[in-house]
Amino acid sequence: VNWPSIKFRGRSREVTRAALETSVPTAQPEVPAAPAVIETLADLDVALRKLDAAAAISDDELRRAFETFSMRFPLDLPADPDSPDYRARQFDLYEWLHGKPYSTANEVSGFDPMQAADAPFPYHTKSAQTVGNQLIAIGYLIRALDLPAGSRVLEFGPGWGNTTIALARMGCQVTAVDIEANFLKLIDERARRKHVTVETIQGDFSLIAELDRQFDAVLFFECFHHCSDHQALVAGLDRVVAPGGKVVFAGEPIDDGFSMPWGLRLDGGSLWSIRRHGWLELGFQERYFRGLLSRHGWDVEKSVCRELSGAVTGWGTVFTARRGS
Ligand SMILES: C[S@@+](CC[C@H](N)C(=O)[O-])C[C@H]1O[C@@H](n2cnc3c(N)ncnc32)[C@H](O)[C@@H]1O
Repeated sequence: VNWPSIKFRGRSREVTRAALETSVPTAQPEVPAAPAVIETLADLDVALRKLDAAAAISDDELRRAFETFSMRFPLDLPADPDSPDYRARQFDLYEWLHGKPYSTANEVSGFDPMQAADAPFPYHTKSAQTVGNQLIAIGYLIRALDLPAGSRVLEFGPGWGNTTIALARMGCQVTAVDIEANFLKLIDERARRKHVTVETIQGDFSLIAELDRQFDAVLFFECFHHCSDHQALVAGLDRVVAPGGKVVFAGEPIDDGFSMPWGLRLDGGSLWSIRRHGWLELGFQERYFRGLLSRHGWDVEKSVCRELSGAVTGWGTVFTARRGS
């Protein structure tokens, strides 16, 4: 398919009422051997309706259905991934997919924090695979973090607080920064129930430039890829990491199999998140990610949890950055 850049810039909404109304969700989504490659927003909306049907069956079914389609087209990206043009192309693509420009306000997820405190993710999925994988991933991450009690930890994007609460229960002093106030209320409630203290701050990743304290570890677990200016975020790390400290990136989509240095992911799960919710879903080539960290003085080590190496989520991959000698 010839997919000239003008299609993104033209913001042509190809969703028609007829297309939506004629897309009948199937009760039992079929999983084809190879994922279908979608090229239009109309077809994407049909695929998302099928995801709704899968979600109505179970979380496992939804995750299986994510694997049934993706989008792919030439992006005509500028060669320099640090250039303003490259960045503009990614955010044009986001706007075309979501229908509105990116704003951190799009990252919110409405839910009742008190209800969620009883059955936070992953338990509410009721999936043995998802619950098991997440517990293994958090165990692996905590072992990789290797922090003594009393360590100061800055955790960005803590979400449901699974890692946050585990670290706090180990005696770490955790500061949790999230854009979504409901997640912070949930963490406050979970901390209260476990009689531990967590400092919660509502804010964007850009808070890194304002913090006036240092930490023994800065943690990103499945959230770095939501950052709208990951280059500024990496540039800000040096200020907040104490001497001898580390930065840990876990469960992030960092992989040399990714088709460009950095940019929007166009797999089924990411498309669902971008189009339906407006969440920014970026991916990174490992060599680009390492190069960026290295330019800011960080040496990066990678470790992969053997138990999770085949899992789709990538939860078991941990990158640990320490200041280079
Ligand atoms: C996929 S969840 C990860 C939650 C948790 N770390 C985990 O792995 O279970 C992504 C988290 O990043 C947060 N987030 C998204 N955009 C953000 C932003 N711009 N600044 C701070 N947090 C953000 C979301 O609110 C959410 O809590």
